[in-house]
Amino acid sequence: MAAGIAPAPDVLEEAPDLAGAEPRALSLVCVETRRETADVLTFVFAAADGSALAHAPGQAVTLAVPVDGEVLHRTFTISGASRTRDRIEITAKAQPHGRATRWLHANAAPGLALEARGPHGSFTLARREGAVRGVAFVSAGSGATPMLAMLRALAEDAPETDAIWIHVARTPDNVLFAAEIARLQAAMPRLDARVVVTRPSPGWFGFTGRISRRLMSVLAPDLARRDVFVCGPEGFMQALRVIHAAEGGDPARLHVERFAPAPEPAGDAASVVGEDAGPAFSVGLGAKVFSAGPGETLMQAAARQGVVIPCGCGQGLCGTCRVRLEEGTVAMRHQGGLSPREEAQGYVLACSARATSNLRLSF
Ligand code: FES
Repeated sequence: MAAGIAPAPDVLEEAPDLAGAEPRALSLVCVETRRETADVLTFVFAAADGSALAHAPGQAVTLAVPVDGEVLHRTFTISGASRTRDRIEITAKAQPHGRATRWLHANAAPGLALEARGPHGSFTLARREGAVRGVAFVSAGSGATPMLAMLRALAEDAPETDAIWIHVARTPDNVLFAAEIARLQAAMPRLDARVVVTRPSPGWFGFTGRISRRLMSVLAPDLARRDVFVCGPEGFMQALRVIHAAEGGDPARLHVERFAPAPEPAGDAASVVGEDAGPAFSVGLGAKVFSAGPGETLMQAAARQGVVIPCGCGQGLCGTCRVRLEEGTVAMRHQGGLSPREEAQGYVLACSARATSNLRLSF
């Protein structure tokens, strides 16, 4: 078990190309695919023009996946990058009902070209800025991908970092990146990586069970003194929040990656548009006009009336739904899908913005 608290090197200072990347349109070409488990593949992409794919480990990219004549926008965490940042990797499970992931598994091969947008997201090591403490990564299922990206960066740029990675998988066969975990442990002498399975099979002698305060006290007894990054299903993250608080951890040092839409605070819609918001506002988008009712997002209003705005995450993360606000005002809260520069240029996110006046928008 890694122990002790040591100054954490400033990763961003050592690797300036990891910071400050803003979302942009990308033309990608698949250069390699790699099987991780029976239903999980890693796809390696390069920029079609050979340019660098700058991003911060932990960020995500949205792919435009052409399925049956329709373009599906899906957001994937970047699980890794080449040392020269000219390639990025995403790791995706073929979800039984996931049209985009099933299409990728069936069709992605070297030479496949895809349009994309990114990078985006703020679940990165930059949140540790100024930290003088160790770090703990706690993931479940595909929540391993941002952790892997951050650990790969630490292994390259700050291998002496005091780090714990606890990963929970359903069965031993579902453990992602087993070989990579071993490689990272060899490269980072103070990394303690532990795998927990909830449904062990014969021959598994590792940790078992659901995440609990008791289990965490064994795996990470100094959890409260670390920067903690958590990614997994909502129930898993909630359990970690409770355990972290019970251990006396500072909530500001608990960093959570949310894949599901953030719950809106009670009364949020009323606070945005006013309880007596009155009649719907008129929204012009190019040649189309639709109405946006009180409390609904521009995306919801457009979809209700058959107006198509490209949608990726639907929760203000990916920037796929960005439109430019030419006239009018909106209330908007997002999760990093727009850069400050894009906001200054007048862009808004249709999935996260509500009209507070009549609007004129453009793509
Ligand atoms: S769809 Fe991802 S930010 Fe709106």
